[in-house]
Amino acid sequence: MGRKLDVTGLCGVFCDRHHHVLLLALLGCCCCCCCCSSLGSPGCIRSSRAVVGGSLRVPERVDGGKCEFVKVRLFGSPFVDAWLFQSVVDRLLTNWLNYTTGQFMDGDFWVDCNTWEDIENYQLAANSDAYANISSLGYLGKNALDASTNWTELLGGSYDDAQWAILSLWRMADYESGHGQDNTPYLNAASTIYDLVSEQWDDYCGGGGRRRQMSLVHSRAEYFWLVNSGMQNAQLLYNDGLSDNCTNNGQTAWTYNQAVVASGLGALYKATGNATLLDVAETSLDATIMSLTDDGILKEACDDAVGGSTECSHNSQLFKGLWMKHLSYYLTYANDSSRTAKYAQFITAQYDAILQNAMNAQYDIGSVWYAPNQGGSVFQPEASASGLEGILADAQVCMMQAV
Ligand SMILES: *[C@@H]1O[C@H](CO)[C@@H](O)[C@H](O)[C@H]1NC(C)=O
Ligand SMILES: *[C@@H]1O[C@H](CO)[C@@H](O)[C@H](O)[C@H]1NC(C)=O
Ligand SMILES: *[C@@H]1O[C@H](CO)[C@@H](O)[C@H](O)[C@H]1NC(C)=O
Ligand SMILES: *[C@@H]1O[C@H](CO)[C@@H](O)[C@H](O)[C@H]1NC(C)=O
Ligand SMILES: *[C@@H]1O[C@H](CO)[C@@H](O)[C@H](O)[C@H]1NC(C)=O
Ligand SMILES: *[C@@H]1O[C@H](CO)[C@@H](O)[C@H](O)[C@H]1NC(C)=O
Repeated sequence: MGRKLDVTGLCGVFCDRHHHVLLLALLGCCCCCCCCSSLGSPGCIRSSRAVVGGSLRVPERVDGGKCEFVKVRLFGSPFVDAWLFQSVVDRLLTNWLNYTTGQFMDGDFWVDCNTWEDIENYQLAANSDAYANISSLGYLGKNALDASTNWTELLGGSYDDAQWAILSLWRMADYESGHGQDNTPYLNAASTIYDLVSEQWDDYCGGGGRRRQMSLVHSRAEYFWLVNSGMQNAQLLYNDGLSDNCTNNGQTAWTYNQAVVASGLGALYKATGNATLLDVAETSLDATIMSLTDDGILKEACDDAVGGSTECSHNSQLFKGLWMKHLSYYLTYANDSSRTAKYAQFITAQYDAILQNAMNAQYDIGSVWYAPNQGGSVFQPEASASGLEGILADAQVCMMQAV
């Protein structure tokens, strides 16, 4: 089951971003799991994911520069995950961020909110301070720190976007409080926005609003609205909204909706202890895997430009990553090893596809995961953010399996 081997001296070489693949190849399908202090992280973002004799080995967390010398998949090393995550973030920050505005070029507010959330999630999961002041850099955080921000004006009526901002601000607050910093500006901004969103809820179709209001399914009322509103279609997928007469509008079943509902039900399970909610949650997760994939890899309805559809819009480029992120949230809420195991392989397959099909040499990640080059992949910050979420979700689920 793997010999302990001190290869701390190799860490420097591993840390050289340009040589890691070469070194892995030299080791002949073996590599070490080591935690390099130059990464700014005392621990691995995830545990070793080692395949021994063809079966998945139970991972262990490896700390303090100790390395475990075992056979692993090429991209299965926790070191590569941390390295990879930061490479993609660094590329986003150096190539796509406008530091004056704090917005990613060609970006969207709600997508940016998710990207900031992902970076905080990474720092929290990896116990890393690689991006310690990131929250004050982005448009969302800058405005949270500015007491004179008028959120009504800033949001301009985009109350569905606003809900993503809340999730992001909560995570910024978590990071700040964990570092002895004052997190009240972030919490205050989140609660101001929360109040603005709540005011918009109406009794239309039994409450909850009609479109993309699903990100705050973290409440009992919203759940009952959802299950009564007939939004789950015959394939058990949620469509994107309701018609004026409160029936399923039959519009596109995007990936992310399927997991955002599940994470909401997971939160509700955690609050109530009613495990039936988890079974309900998995209907749309399983339906995604059944119906919104190509050969086991997530495929958005717009993901096939070469096959004749138009390319995914900026918005829809993020959806697969959101599905991955909210599945990892769901599994965290469920805290059930058999439920985690049920999805682990699928999650890892997405991770592999992101690396093998979608990522380019500059560490941008393209919008299409299921096919290399022929899927009409586009490279924009939204697509990179999506891939980043996929990488992080895999790491987090691996860590869950380690405990
Ligand atoms: C960044 O945004 C500012 C303000 O909108 C703009 O003037 C500037 O040209 C942008 N910079 C880049 C590199 O796009
Ligand atoms: C990061 O923020 C902290 C607290 O706000 C501040 O003390 C520190 O100087 C900042 N670091 C950098 C590199 O800006
Ligand atoms: C905030 O902006 C809204 C919309 O522009 C405006 O109606 C409101 O008066 C502003 N609030 C304050 C305190 O300035
Ligand atoms: C509801 O509206 C949709 C779209 O306008 C229509 O196709 C459907 O027949 C309507 N259903 C009912 C029960 O009226
Ligand atoms: C648990 O949730 C299910 C699904 O919503 C519901 O039918 C059932 O009544 C709930 N059980 C309890 C004890 O609340
Ligand atoms: C998850 O479940 C285990 C028992 O199976 C328990 O020891 C642990 O505290 C739980 N974790 C959380 C975060 O609830």
